[in-house]
Amino acid sequence: MRKKRGRPVSRRQFKSTSDNSDQSGYQGKNFNIKKLKKIKKSKGEKFYTKEDIFLSRLASILKLPTGRVKQAFTERAVTAIRINNLAGDPESIKKLLLKKRLKLKEIPWSPNTYIVENKDKSELGEMHAYEKGLFYIQNLSSLIPALEFRLERISDKSMQKVKVLDLTASPGSKTSQLAALMDNQGKIIANDVDPHRAQKLKEVLDQFHVKNTKVTVQDGSKVGIKSENREKFDFVLLDAPCSGEGMIYLTHSGSLRFWSIRKVKAMSKIQRKLIESAWLALKTGGTLVYSTCTLEPGENEAIIDFLIKKHSNAQVKKLDLVNSEEFKDFRKFVKPGITEWNQYSFSPEVKKCIRLVPSAEFMGFFVAKIYKG
Ligand SMILES: C[S@@+](CC[C@H](N)C(=O)[O-])C[C@H]1O[C@@H](n2cnc3c(N)ncnc32)[C@H](O)[C@@H]1O
Repeated sequence: MRKKRGRPVSRRQFKSTSDNSDQSGYQGKNFNIKKLKKIKKSKGEKFYTKEDIFLSRLASILKLPTGRVKQAFTERAVTAIRINNLAGDPESIKKLLLKKRLKLKEIPWSPNTYIVENKDKSELGEMHAYEKGLFYIQNLSSLIPALEFRLERISDKSMQKVKVLDLTASPGSKTSQLAALMDNQGKIIANDVDPHRAQKLKEVLDQFHVKNTKVTVQDGSKVGIKSENREKFDFVLLDAPCSGEGMIYLTHSGSLRFWSIRKVKAMSKIQRKLIESAWLALKTGGTLVYSTCTLEPGENEAIIDFLIKKHSNAQVKKLDLVNSEEFKDFRKFVKPGITEWNQYSFSPEVKKCIRLVPSAEFMGFFVAKIYKG
Protein backbone atom coordinates (compact mmCIF):
# COMPACT_ATOMS: atom_id res chain seq x y z
CA MET A 1 0.00 0.00 0.00
CA ARG A 2 1.26 3.50 -0.60
CA LYS A 3 0.38 6.95 0.54
CA LYS A 4 -1.54 8.85 -2.08
CA ARG A 5 1.31 11.21 -2.90
CA GLY A 6 3.23 8.22 -4.17
CA ARG A 7 5.59 7.68 -1.27
CA PRO A 8 5.72 3.98 -0.33
CA VAL A 9 4.56 3.22 3.18
CA SER A 10 6.33 0.50 5.06
CA ARG A 11 4.33 -2.09 6.98
CA ARG A 12 5.41 -0.60 10.24
CA GLN A 13 4.27 2.84 9.21
CA PHE A 14 0.79 1.71 8.27
CA LYS A 15 -1.75 2.79 10.81
CA SER A 16 -5.35 1.78 10.52
CA THR A 17 -6.31 5.41 10.80
CA SER A 18 -5.98 5.97 14.46
CA ASP A 19 -5.54 9.62 13.48
CA ASN A 20 -8.57 11.68 14.19
CA SER A 21 -9.81 12.93 10.86
CA ASP A 22 -12.22 10.04 10.48
CA GLN A 23 -13.40 9.95 14.08
CA SER A 24 -14.54 13.50 14.37
CA GLY A 25 -17.52 13.35 12.09
CA TYR A 26 -15.83 16.03 9.97
CA GLN A 27 -14.59 13.70 7.27
CA GLY A 28 -11.73 14.69 5.05
CA LYS A 29 -10.37 17.35 7.42
CA ASN A 30 -7.30 16.95 9.53
CA PHE A 31 -9.13 17.25 12.79
CA ASN A 32 -7.87 16.88 16.34
CA ILE A 33 -10.46 15.10 18.45
CA LYS A 34 -8.77 15.92 21.79
CA LYS A 35 -8.95 19.62 20.94
CA LEU A 36 -12.57 19.21 19.91
CA LYS A 37 -13.45 17.49 23.18
CA LYS A 38 -11.76 20.30 25.14
CA ILE A 39 -13.68 23.00 23.30
CA LYS A 40 -16.93 21.09 23.71
CA LYS A 41 -16.27 20.54 27.41
CA SER A 42 -15.56 24.24 28.02
CA LYS A 43 -18.83 25.07 26.24
CA GLY A 44 -20.66 22.49 28.31
CA GLU A 45 -21.37 20.38 25.23
CA LYS A 46 -21.41 16.57 25.16
CA PHE A 47 -18.46 14.31 24.29
CA TYR A 48 -18.58 12.11 21.26
CA THR A 49 -19.74 8.63 22.16
CA LYS A 50 -18.08 5.45 20.95
CA GLU A 51 -21.08 4.95 18.67
CA ASP A 52 -20.51 8.41 17.08
CA ILE A 53 -16.88 7.48 16.44
CA PHE A 54 -17.81 4.07 15.02
CA LEU A 55 -20.50 5.50 12.75
CA SER A 56 -18.39 8.31 11.33
CA ARG A 57 -15.48 5.91 10.74
CA LEU A 58 -17.70 3.42 8.91
CA ALA A 59 -19.37 6.26 6.99
CA SER A 60 -15.96 7.28 5.66
CA ILE A 61 -15.07 3.66 4.74
CA LEU A 62 -18.40 2.83 3.10
CA LYS A 63 -18.92 6.32 1.66
CA LEU A 64 -22.43 6.44 3.07
CA PRO A 65 -24.19 8.99 5.27
CA THR A 66 -23.97 8.09 8.97
CA GLY A 67 -27.78 7.63 9.11
CA ARG A 68 -27.57 4.95 6.42
CA VAL A 69 -24.65 3.29 8.24
CA LYS A 70 -26.63 3.20 11.46
CA GLN A 71 -29.53 1.59 9.63
CA ALA A 72 -27.18 -1.07 8.14
CA PHE A 73 -25.73 -1.89 11.55
CA THR A 74 -29.15 -2.34 13.14
CA GLU A 75 -30.30 -4.80 10.50
CA ARG A 76 -30.19 -8.47 11.47
CA ALA A 77 -29.43 -10.84 8.62
CA VAL A 78 -31.77 -13.73 7.82
CA THR A 79 -31.24 -17.14 9.41
CA ALA A 80 -29.91 -19.73 7.02
CA ILE A 81 -29.29 -23.45 7.47
CA ARG A 82 -27.06 -25.83 5.60
CA ILE A 83 -28.55 -29.33 5.53
CA ASN A 84 -25.73 -31.68 6.40
CA ASN A 85 -25.11 -34.27 3.67
CA LEU A 86 -22.66 -36.02 6.05
CA ALA A 87 -25.59 -36.89 8.34
CA GLY A 88 -27.82 -38.51 5.72
CA ASP A 89 -29.65 -37.95 2.46
CA PRO A 90 -30.28 -34.16 2.19
CA GLU A 91 -33.74 -34.65 0.60
CA SER A 92 -34.90 -36.89 3.46
CA ILE A 93 -33.56 -34.39 6.03
CA LYS A 94 -35.37 -31.59 4.21
CA LYS A 95 -38.64 -33.57 4.32
CA LEU A 96 -38.18 -34.09 8.06
CA LEU A 97 -37.66 -30.35 8.59
CA LEU A 98 -40.73 -29.51 6.50
CA LYS A 99 -42.72 -31.92 8.68
CA LYS A 100 -41.51 -29.91 11.68
CA ARG A 101 -43.14 -26.92 9.93
CA LEU A 102 -39.98 -25.10 8.98
CA LYS A 103 -40.63 -22.65 6.14
CA LEU A 104 -37.63 -23.04 3.84
CA LYS A 105 -36.50 -20.87 0.93
CA GLU A 106 -33.74 -22.36 -1.20
CA ILE A 107 -30.44 -20.55 -1.74
CA PRO A 108 -29.49 -21.36 -5.34
CA TRP A 109 -25.75 -20.77 -4.99
CA SER A 110 -24.99 -22.99 -1.99
CA PRO A 111 -25.76 -26.73 -1.92
CA ASN A 112 -28.51 -27.84 0.49
CA THR A 113 -28.85 -24.33 1.90
CA TYR A 114 -32.12 -22.61 2.86
CA ILE A 115 -33.30 -19.45 4.55
CA VAL A 116 -35.62 -20.34 7.41
CA GLU A 117 -38.46 -17.86 7.22
CA ASN A 118 -40.35 -18.72 10.40
CA LYS A 119 -37.76 -19.57 13.07
CA ASP A 120 -34.84 -17.71 14.58
CA LYS A 121 -31.38 -19.01 15.43
CA SER A 122 -32.13 -19.85 19.06
CA GLU A 123 -35.32 -21.80 18.18
CA LEU A 124 -33.41 -23.77 15.54
CA GLY A 125 -30.54 -24.42 17.96
CA GLU A 126 -32.97 -26.13 20.35
CA MET A 127 -34.25 -28.61 17.77
CA HIS A 128 -33.41 -32.29 18.15
CA ALA A 129 -32.44 -32.40 14.45
CA TYR A 130 -29.82 -29.73 15.14
CA GLU A 131 -28.41 -31.62 18.13
CA LYS A 132 -28.12 -34.66 15.88
CA GLY A 133 -26.12 -32.61 13.37
CA LEU A 134 -28.72 -32.85 10.59
CA PHE A 135 -28.31 -29.17 9.77
CA TYR A 136 -25.88 -26.35 10.54
CA ILE A 137 -26.96 -22.76 11.19
CA GLN A 138 -24.78 -20.42 9.15
CA ASN A 139 -24.97 -16.85 7.92
CA LEU A 140 -25.07 -16.43 4.13
CA SER A 141 -21.86 -14.36 4.10
CA SER A 142 -19.98 -17.04 5.98
CA LEU A 143 -20.86 -19.63 3.31
CA ILE A 144 -18.94 -17.83 0.57
CA PRO A 145 -15.25 -18.48 1.47
CA ALA A 146 -15.40 -22.32 1.38
CA LEU A 147 -17.52 -22.28 -1.81
CA GLU A 148 -14.82 -20.24 -3.57
CA PHE A 149 -12.51 -23.28 -3.66
CA ARG A 150 -14.98 -24.78 -6.19
CA LEU A 151 -14.48 -28.25 -4.69
CA GLU A 152 -17.40 -29.60 -6.73
CA ARG A 153 -15.11 -29.45 -9.77
CA ILE A 154 -12.81 -32.10 -8.27
CA SER A 155 -13.52 -35.72 -9.17
CA ASP A 156 -14.14 -38.28 -6.39
CA LYS A 157 -10.86 -39.99 -7.19
CA SER A 158 -8.80 -36.79 -7.04
CA MET A 159 -10.62 -35.61 -3.90
CA GLN A 160 -9.02 -38.41 -1.89
CA LYS A 161 -5.63 -36.71 -2.34
CA VAL A 162 -6.80 -33.15 -1.62
CA LYS A 163 -5.24 -31.45 1.41
CA VAL A 164 -6.93 -28.42 2.96
CA LEU A 165 -5.65 -26.20 5.75
CA ASP A 166 -8.16 -24.18 7.80
CA LEU A 167 -5.67 -22.04 9.69
CA THR A 168 -7.97 -20.31 12.21
CA ALA A 169 -10.85 -22.73 12.36
CA SER A 170 -12.86 -22.60 15.59
CA PRO A 171 -15.82 -22.94 16.09
CA GLY A 172 -15.86 -24.82 12.80
CA SER A 173 -18.64 -23.40 10.59
CA LYS A 174 -16.37 -23.38 7.58
CA THR A 175 -14.46 -26.58 8.50
CA SER A 176 -17.72 -28.54 8.69
CA GLN A 177 -18.87 -26.92 5.44
CA LEU A 178 -15.57 -27.88 3.75
CA ALA A 179 -15.90 -31.47 5.00
CA ALA A 180 -19.47 -31.57 3.64
CA LEU A 181 -18.33 -30.21 0.27
CA MET A 182 -15.56 -32.84 0.21
CA ASP A 183 -18.01 -35.57 1.27
CA ASN A 184 -15.59 -36.49 4.08
CA GLN A 185 -12.91 -37.38 1.50
CA GLY A 186 -9.36 -35.99 1.40
CA LYS A 187 -7.83 -34.42 4.48
CA ILE A 188 -8.47 -31.18 6.39
CA ILE A 189 -6.17 -29.79 9.03
CA ALA A 190 -8.27 -27.48 11.23
CA ASN A 191 -6.11 -25.33 13.47
CA ASP A 192 -6.77 -22.83 16.25
CA VAL A 193 -4.40 -21.18 18.69
CA ASP A 194 -6.80 -21.33 21.62
CA PRO A 195 -7.06 -24.75 23.33
CA HIS A 196 -10.61 -24.09 24.63
CA ARG A 197 -11.78 -23.03 21.22
CA ALA A 198 -10.02 -26.03 19.67
CA GLN A 199 -11.98 -28.26 22.07
CA LYS A 200 -15.21 -26.56 20.95
CA LEU A 201 -14.12 -27.15 17.35
CA LYS A 202 -13.67 -30.88 18.02
CA GLU A 203 -17.15 -31.07 19.56
CA VAL A 204 -18.68 -29.28 16.57
CA LEU A 205 -16.91 -31.61 14.13
CA ASP A 206 -18.19 -34.64 16.07
CA GLN A 207 -21.72 -33.28 16.18
CA PHE A 208 -21.73 -32.66 12.43
CA HIS A 209 -20.32 -36.07 11.45
CA VAL A 210 -16.98 -34.79 10.14
CA LYS A 211 -14.48 -37.61 9.69
CA ASN A 212 -11.74 -36.27 7.41
CA THR A 213 -10.38 -33.59 9.76
CA LYS A 214 -7.55 -33.42 12.25
CA VAL A 215 -7.60 -30.62 14.81
CA THR A 216 -4.29 -28.98 15.72
CA VAL A 217 -3.60 -26.34 18.36
CA GLN A 218 -0.83 -23.94 17.48
CA ASP A 219 -0.15 -20.35 16.57
CA GLY A 220 -1.27 -20.12 12.96
CA SER A 221 1.49 -17.66 12.14
CA LYS A 222 4.04 -20.44 12.80
CA VAL A 223 2.31 -23.23 10.83
CA GLY A 224 3.60 -22.31 7.36
CA ILE A 225 7.11 -21.63 8.61
CA LYS A 226 7.58 -25.27 9.66
CA SER A 227 9.39 -27.22 6.96
CA GLU A 228 6.91 -30.12 7.14
CA ASN A 229 4.06 -27.75 6.18
CA ARG A 230 5.79 -25.85 3.37
CA GLU A 231 3.86 -25.95 0.08
CA LYS A 232 1.83 -28.85 1.48
CA PHE A 233 -1.80 -27.78 0.95
CA ASP A 234 -3.91 -27.50 -2.21
CA PHE A 235 -6.29 -25.09 -0.51
CA VAL A 236 -5.78 -22.81 2.47
CA LEU A 237 -8.56 -20.95 4.21
CA LEU A 238 -7.64 -18.02 6.42
CA ASP A 239 -10.87 -16.83 8.02
CA ALA A 240 -8.90 -14.43 10.12
CA PRO A 241 -9.47 -13.17 13.65
CA CYS A 242 -10.64 -9.58 13.20
CA SER A 243 -12.29 -6.59 14.85
CA GLY A 244 -15.70 -8.12 14.03
CA GLU A 245 -17.48 -5.02 12.74
CA GLY A 246 -19.74 -7.13 10.54
CA MET A 247 -21.26 -8.74 13.61
CA ILE A 248 -22.10 -5.50 15.41
CA TYR A 249 -25.82 -4.85 15.95
CA LEU A 250 -26.24 -1.36 17.31
CA THR A 251 -29.68 -2.15 18.76
CA HIS A 252 -27.96 -4.24 21.47
CA SER A 253 -26.61 -2.27 24.41
CA GLY A 254 -22.87 -2.79 24.77
CA SER A 255 -22.58 -3.93 21.16
CA LEU A 256 -19.40 -1.88 20.76
CA ARG A 257 -17.70 -3.07 23.91
CA PHE A 258 -15.21 -5.27 22.05
CA TRP A 259 -14.62 -2.77 19.24
CA SER A 260 -11.84 -0.18 19.29
CA ILE A 261 -9.40 1.40 16.87
CA ARG A 262 -6.61 -0.15 18.95
CA LYS A 263 -8.11 -3.59 18.26
CA VAL A 264 -8.30 -2.85 14.52
CA LYS A 265 -4.59 -1.99 14.53
CA ALA A 266 -3.65 -5.06 16.58
CA MET A 267 -5.66 -7.36 14.30
CA SER A 268 -4.03 -5.89 11.20
CA LYS A 269 -0.61 -6.92 12.56
CA ILE A 270 -1.73 -10.46 13.40
CA GLN A 271 -3.44 -10.88 10.00
CA ARG A 272 -0.19 -10.05 8.14
CA LYS A 273 1.64 -12.77 10.07
CA LEU A 274 -1.17 -15.26 9.47
CA ILE A 275 -1.46 -14.60 5.74
CA GLU A 276 2.30 -14.97 5.30
CA SER A 277 2.12 -18.34 7.08
CA ALA A 278 -0.93 -19.38 5.02
CA TRP A 279 0.96 -18.47 1.85
CA LEU A 280 4.01 -20.55 2.78
CA ALA A 281 1.81 -23.58 3.50
CA LEU A 282 0.06 -23.32 0.10
CA LYS A 283 1.27 -25.43 -2.86
CA THR A 284 2.23 -23.74 -6.11
CA GLY A 285 -0.95 -23.96 -8.18
CA GLY A 286 -3.06 -23.84 -5.01
CA THR A 287 -5.69 -21.33 -3.86
CA LEU A 288 -5.84 -19.24 -0.71
CA VAL A 289 -9.11 -17.70 0.45
CA TYR A 290 -8.83 -14.86 2.95
CA SER A 291 -11.95 -13.64 4.74
CA THR A 292 -12.95 -11.49 7.68
CA CYS A 293 -16.20 -10.30 9.22
CA THR A 294 -15.00 -6.71 9.37
CA LEU A 295 -15.14 -3.78 6.96
CA GLU A 296 -11.84 -2.19 7.97
CA PRO A 297 -9.54 -1.57 4.96
CA GLY A 298 -6.54 -2.05 7.29
CA GLU A 299 -7.71 -5.62 7.98
CA ASN A 300 -8.86 -6.39 4.45
CA GLU A 301 -7.47 -4.70 1.34
CA ALA A 302 -4.26 -3.71 3.20
CA ILE A 303 -3.59 -7.39 3.97
CA ILE A 304 -4.10 -8.49 0.36
CA ASP A 305 -2.01 -5.53 -0.85
CA PHE A 306 0.75 -6.60 1.57
CA LEU A 307 0.71 -10.19 0.27
CA ILE A 308 0.74 -9.38 -3.44
CA LYS A 309 3.51 -6.83 -3.05
CA LYS A 310 5.62 -9.28 -1.09
CA HIS A 311 5.05 -12.30 -3.35
CA SER A 312 5.11 -11.72 -7.11
CA ASN A 313 3.42 -15.12 -7.69
CA ALA A 314 0.34 -14.10 -5.66
CA GLN A 315 -2.48 -13.45 -8.15
CA VAL A 316 -5.76 -12.01 -6.93
CA LYS A 317 -8.71 -13.69 -8.69
CA LYS A 318 -12.30 -12.64 -9.20
CA LEU A 319 -14.74 -14.66 -7.12
CA ASP A 320 -16.32 -17.33 -9.37
CA LEU A 321 -19.34 -17.79 -7.18
CA VAL A 322 -20.27 -14.13 -7.08
CA ASN A 323 -20.01 -13.92 -10.86
CA SER A 324 -22.06 -17.09 -11.40
CA GLU A 325 -25.60 -17.21 -12.82
CA GLU A 326 -26.97 -18.69 -9.56
CA PHE A 327 -25.75 -15.67 -7.61
CA LYS A 328 -27.31 -13.04 -9.88
CA ASP A 329 -30.16 -12.02 -7.55
CA PHE A 330 -27.69 -11.53 -4.69
CA ARG A 331 -25.07 -9.58 -6.63
CA LYS A 332 -26.63 -6.26 -5.69
CA PHE A 333 -25.38 -6.76 -2.12
CA VAL A 334 -21.76 -7.16 -3.22
CA LYS A 335 -19.30 -4.27 -3.49
CA PRO A 336 -15.73 -4.46 -4.85
CA GLY A 337 -12.67 -4.03 -2.65
CA ILE A 338 -11.67 -0.39 -2.21
CA THR A 339 -8.39 1.01 -3.50
CA GLU A 340 -8.28 4.18 -1.43
CA TRP A 341 -9.27 5.10 2.05
CA ASN A 342 -8.21 7.95 4.29
CA GLN A 343 -4.61 8.69 3.25
CA TYR A 344 -3.80 5.19 1.95
CA SER A 345 -4.12 3.57 -1.43
CA PHE A 346 -3.93 -0.09 -2.39
CA SER A 347 -3.17 -2.02 -5.59
CA PRO A 348 -6.04 -1.91 -8.13
CA GLU A 349 -5.98 -5.74 -7.91
CA VAL A 350 -7.92 -5.54 -4.62
CA LYS A 351 -10.99 -4.45 -6.60
CA LYS A 352 -11.43 -8.17 -7.37
CA CYS A 353 -12.09 -8.84 -3.67
CA ILE A 354 -15.62 -8.46 -2.35
CA ARG A 355 -17.18 -6.52 0.50
CA LEU A 356 -20.63 -7.16 1.92
CA VAL A 357 -22.22 -4.27 3.77
CA PRO A 358 -24.56 -5.52 6.54
CA SER A 359 -28.09 -6.00 5.22
CA ALA A 360 -31.19 -8.10 5.83
CA GLU A 361 -29.48 -10.88 3.82
CA PHE A 362 -25.77 -10.71 4.63
CA MET A 363 -23.69 -9.84 7.65
CA GLY A 364 -20.73 -7.51 7.02
CA PHE A 365 -17.92 -9.50 5.37
CA PHE A 366 -14.84 -9.39 3.15
CA VAL A 367 -13.56 -12.20 0.90
CA ALA A 368 -10.44 -12.42 -1.27
CA LYS A 369 -9.21 -15.29 -3.46
CA ILE A 370 -5.53 -15.58 -4.32
CA TYR A 371 -3.91 -18.09 -6.67
CA LYS A 372 -0.27 -19.16 -6.19
CA GLY A 373 1.34 -19.07 -9.64
C1 LIG B 1 -13.12 -15.58 12.87
S1 LIG B 1 -12.74 -16.88 13.96
C2 LIG B 1 -12.78 -18.25 12.87
C3 LIG B 1 -14.18 -18.73 12.59
C4 LIG B 1 -14.20 -20.07 11.87
N1 LIG B 1 -13.42 -20.03 10.65
C5 LIG B 1 -15.61 -20.52 11.55
O1 LIG B 1 -16.06 -20.32 10.41
O2 LIG B 1 -16.26 -21.06 12.43
C6 LIG B 1 -11.04 -16.69 14.21
C7 LIG B 1 -10.39 -17.77 15.04
O3 LIG B 1 -8.98 -17.52 14.98
C8 LIG B 1 -8.41 -17.96 16.18
N2 LIG B 1 -7.07 -17.34 16.26
C9 LIG B 1 -6.72 -16.11 16.68
N3 LIG B 1 -5.41 -15.92 16.58
C10 LIG B 1 -4.89 -17.06 16.05
C11 LIG B 1 -3.58 -17.49 15.71
N4 LIG B 1 -2.53 -16.71 15.89
N5 LIG B 1 -3.43 -18.74 15.22
C12 LIG B 1 -4.49 -19.57 15.03
N6 LIG B 1 -5.75 -19.20 15.35
C13 LIG B 1 -5.95 -17.97 15.84
C14 LIG B 1 -9.40 -17.56 17.24
O4 LIG B 1 -9.24 -18.34 18.41
C15 LIG B 1 -10.74 -17.78 16.51
O5 LIG B 1 -11.23 -19.05 16.86
